[in-house]
Amino acid sequence: MEKIIKLDKNYGHYLPLFNLKGLKASITPYFGGDLKLDHHHFVLEPVSELSLFKHQLSRNVIFTVNGQRYFLNGDTEIQQNDEVYLTIGGLYQKVLRKNALFDLSTTSFIPVDDLVEVHKIEIKNNSLKVLEVDTITAIPLYGRSADNLRDHRHVTSLLNRTMHKSNGILMKPTLSFDERGHLENHYTYSVFADIKDIKVNRIISNLDDFINGGSLNFPRGLNLKDTKPANGYEVIGAIGFEKFILKPNESKVLTVVIGVSKEDDLEKVSEKYFDSKTFEDELKKVEAHFKSYTDKLNFEIENKETSELLEWVTLQPVLRRYFGNSYLPHHDYGRGGRGWRDLWQDLLSLIMFNDSSVNELLFNNFAGIRIDGSNATIIGDKPGEFVADRNKIVRVWSDHGAWPLLTTKMYIDETGNLEFLLKKQSYFDDQFTHYTHQIKENISEDHKLKLSNTTYHGTVLEHLLLQNMVAHLNTGKHGFVKLEDADWNDGLDMAHDLGETIAFTHFYANNLKVLADLITELDGPIEMFESLYLLINEKIDLHSFFNRVKHFNDRIILVDKNELIQKLEIHYFRRLRHIEQFAWIKQSHLQSYVNNFGDLVDNEETMNLTGQAMALLSETLDQEDAEAVADTTKKLLFRPEFGGYLLNTNYDKVMMELGRAYGFQYGHKENGAMFSHMAIMYIYGLYRYNLVSLGKEGFQTLINKALDKDAQVLAGIPEYFNDQAVGKYLYLTGSASWLLKLLRDEVFGIKLVLGKLMLEPKLTQTDFINGKASITTIIKGNKVKVTYHNEKHLDYGNYKIVKMISQGQVIENLSDLKDNLEVYLDEL
Ligand code: G1P
Repeated sequence: MEKIIKLDKNYGHYLPLFNLKGLKASITPYFGGDLKLDHHHFVLEPVSELSLFKHQLSRNVIFTVNGQRYFLNGDTEIQQNDEVYLTIGGLYQKVLRKNALFDLSTTSFIPVDDLVEVHKIEIKNNSLKVLEVDTITAIPLYGRSADNLRDHRHVTSLLNRTMHKSNGILMKPTLSFDERGHLENHYTYSVFADIKDIKVNRIISNLDDFINGGSLNFPRGLNLKDTKPANGYEVIGAIGFEKFILKPNESKVLTVVIGVSKEDDLEKVSEKYFDSKTFEDELKKVEAHFKSYTDKLNFEIENKETSELLEWVTLQPVLRRYFGNSYLPHHDYGRGGRGWRDLWQDLLSLIMFNDSSVNELLFNNFAGIRIDGSNATIIGDKPGEFVADRNKIVRVWSDHGAWPLLTTKMYIDETGNLEFLLKKQSYFDDQFTHYTHQIKENISEDHKLKLSNTTYHGTVLEHLLLQNMVAHLNTGKHGFVKLEDADWNDGLDMAHDLGETIAFTHFYANNLKVLADLITELDGPIEMFESLYLLINEKIDLHSFFNRVKHFNDRIILVDKNELIQKLEIHYFRRLRHIEQFAWIKQSHLQSYVNNFGDLVDNEETMNLTGQAMALLSETLDQEDAEAVADTTKKLLFRPEFGGYLLNTNYDKVMMELGRAYGFQYGHKENGAMFSHMAIMYIYGLYRYNLVSLGKEGFQTLINKALDKDAQVLAGIPEYFNDQAVGKYLYLTGSASWLLKLLRDEVFGIKLVLGKLMLEPKLTQTDFINGKASITTIIKGNKVKVTYHNEKHLDYGNYKIVKMISQGQVIENLSDLKDNLEVYLDEL
């Protein structure tokens, strides 16, 4: 997955680096970006988008060559015409910077097992002159919580205590100040550096000494000797070396190690990387580590560029699992932890990777559901750790209840583990009740709901029925599901009173059908708490249900499974009729939202993609209606120059009655950008209706845009493309899981239903490379490469499977597939 590009200017590229010990970084070709363990432990100063263009407070080295200063980050006047080549791989960065005198080649990565970021910087004389080189690192250590970026920035520097070692510095603040109070600090931060056979002759750790009346760009203290360790000051790791001579073609290697640790081990750990063999071996380990993820799912489709891009897409869900939605330059919000929706979306790819932790993670997540059908919104790092909200403000996202079933159904289909539905899990309990609209006093201390003083455990199926029934019945005056504080679109947050989401009305309706179908497969009767039964059977309304479960004291009853199925189907069909009658705009497309005035938002000329996407994805339309929707959506929203299907037409007004999204300039983020997640879910829906050429056009346009140099996407697919078709919010996006799912389920047609494998390819003519298209994926625990052969170059609709060969044998039955499979297509 290595990729090399020549940089003719700063495109704002960045790459994440991380290891499973919890160290995370973003790094740019100019060594900007930051390094941290979590929100409260940033080693380098936290960055956001602007920092992609200011690199002074990050990793830098100053080389004074024949009396002239050069920066590793290239930020001096004389380096503006350097040639710069960037290489990225899984997950490391190499930068080659060339000027008329010397080359700087830097390799950077975070090793698999240590809490350090390491850099090997080779300086090579490429001129005919003899060069005299003075080297000093210039790495400001931030060493505190992101909260202190402005808040208490100065007083937190008073906490700093620094120690000079023979070739580096250790900095351990006495306390840690953040919103949790003033705590004793246990973390040490460090910078160590080494050049073989060249002595360290000065160490400067006080940033004031280093600046010495100059500035970060023109520091005047580079040559100060015998400075005192920075105690009570901002800290820099400035480690200077004796001058050395480089004859033509000669080179020297500087190793720089930046770290953080709770232990007293940073000096030892850092020195390990000064050995070049160790450095190279650790780099190989890193490559092998990330390859183990991308090996689990990959594609040969369309062309080499597309297939290579997809390797990065496979890594994206892994990145999101560890970075959440925070910690990269565009992702400058949140404090770690993950949102409820994203938690379930990210599991989609873990299921595809057959990750052994899936069962447990999935099961644990159900413990975040409250007995009123709402859920904890932020999930901590440990399994089963739930928090009401990052800011302790409780909101209800009306889509939250819909995702768990989609993910659980996928898990059951992949594994055939229907029993999972009958596993028993607890419920989350805090002060909120009535879908968080009311507060109660008596809550259990361990946040687990009690019944007669013992923790109550209901089946996973009960949790799912509860979430979907409550959401389904929580309707507004138009008879659609209430929008509450937003749905999938986080930016629709200002229609709390009268807002409705027609989009998720489709999703919940279909979920009831999915539940009915799953229950059909179970041996009855079905156990549940009585209030839920009464709600499903319309014996009580939602309000009475909330009143009943506020002080949970229910009987647990057994319900006849056929009665339950029938009831769920009644709810489903009734809602379909409602949609048919009231959601349409002149049989051309669907309404998506009701605003806080209680009005439907769209007309014949306007459209929101979410309503169309959720209808197709939920298959709540008949074929003819789906085709009508697809036609209008293409007309109103398909703009290939921006990467494909835009999120909405231009409403050209701020819409305080709907949400903050419409305060954004049109074409950005949740106001009409090409938002990958929704676009791909829409395209998934197109494939469900066999609208394959439209679907293919949709996802290939998105991929081609990501590959377009002007889109400035270094790797993978971005969250969205803006009004200049520039990709924003790289790497951490739920769309990656969906693109993988789309390709695997629909395009390559790897269909698993309750553990039974079928192949239903929907590959188009151009998907094949020289008549072949393949997917490597894990099917029921076995890694299998499925190659479709289309020698006659037939398009979708004109071929059928005529032969399947595995282990040299023609096979008919896929149930025992354990090895690679060759699938031959021929005319219908
Ligand atoms: C991001 C969020 C996601 C949210 C979406 C729209 O999208 O992570 O939860 O639904 O914005 O507001 P992503 O690109 O991650 O899918």
